[in-house]
Amino acid sequence: QAYNERESLYIVLNYAKDFFVNNLDTEEGKSIGLSYFKERGFDRQTIEKFDLGYALDGWDHLLQSAKKAGHSEELLLKSGLILQKEGDASRYYDRFRGRVTFTIHNLSGKAIGFGARILTQDKKQPKYINSPETEVYHKSDILYGIFQAKKSIREKDNCYLVEGYTDVISLHLAGIENVVASSGTSLTENQIKLIKRFTDNITVLYDGDAAGIRASLRGIDMILEGGLNVKAVVFPEGEDPDSYARKVGSSAFQSYLENNSQDFISFKISLFAEEAAKDPIKQADLVKQVVASIGKIPDPIIRTVYIQQSARLLHMEEEIIQAELNKIFLKEQ
Ligand code: GTP
Ligand code: MN
Ligand code: MN
Ligand code: MN
Ligand code: MN
Repeated sequence: QAYNERESLYIVLNYAKDFFVNNLDTEEGKSIGLSYFKERGFDRQTIEKFDLGYALDGWDHLLQSAKKAGHSEELLLKSGLILQKEGDASRYYDRFRGRVTFTIHNLSGKAIGFGARILTQDKKQPKYINSPETEVYHKSDILYGIFQAKKSIREKDNCYLVEGYTDVISLHLAGIENVVASSGTSLTENQIKLIKRFTDNITVLYDGDAAGIRASLRGIDMILEGGLNVKAVVFPEGEDPDSYARKVGSSAFQSYLENNSQDFISFKISLFAEEAAKDPIKQADLVKQVVASIGKIPDPIIRTVYIQQSARLLHMEEEIIQAELNKIFLKEQ
């Protein structure tokens, strides 16, 4: 039977997924991979739901097994599962070795790539290794967890956006299924369009560190530009959604989300208010920051609503906010 290249890639990626998943039942997989997941509180059901697995420690476990099953080295290379040896391009080795694996699914649930986490604190190696771009895995077009989340996103008419694989999984364990991860890269227009197929509402839940806040600010403007409504929740310094959910438990976590969701204006104000209170220049910066975000909103009626709200929250005349906004639009022409 002849398959086209995309179909062949799906088949070999599915083979790898099963291989990694089944490795969790080997002695090595049980004592290293499974116990790692158990320690993080991931139960069997969750491990299955997300096709979590384990890449055996060794140079070519997947390669040898896949070859025996009839998959070519060429295809394995194109799928990103193996690498060419430096200096000897005729020799290959596994990309993922001695790591727990997170299967990345497309919208219809097919395996299209993997993230793989190191188990030790080895600072010389990256914490996560991910599949490269391939013909079926376009990082900028997909979000981790979208397959498991899409039904719930539609039902709740909201999508939580987190940074990491484990944030998605922990939220499911906390009873929240409408969640996807940007996987540590900046949000793209296509990713926002993907969410927009299911809802117009996104709540950003980024890590409670400086990088997370910066990423939230960028993400919020992208989301507004895409014509969606956006809220944000800030976590205590040093916590991410995964660590915080585990720390406080499911019901306290759910209440935290409900009680701390802020629209983007209040979010920006809360970030800069303390500095702005002491310094009129900073106060002016804050106004400009808020206006810049409002300027991203394509719908003039929604813009007007936010102009009114920001005027109230910033104790400014609406006309001043409007005038500032006009400056942005003039500049763009
Ligand atoms: P845990 O430590 O397992 O809880 O991971 P985390 O998801 O909290 O990690 P972090 O907040 O540091 O990063 C968020 C996301 O960025 C991860 O889930 C990965 O998708 C990605 N990421 C983190 N570290 C690396 C890395 O070293 N290399 C690459 N390519 N991506 C990374
Ligand atoms: Mn594409
Ligand atoms: Mn982080
Ligand atoms: Mn994190
Ligand atoms: Mn984490």
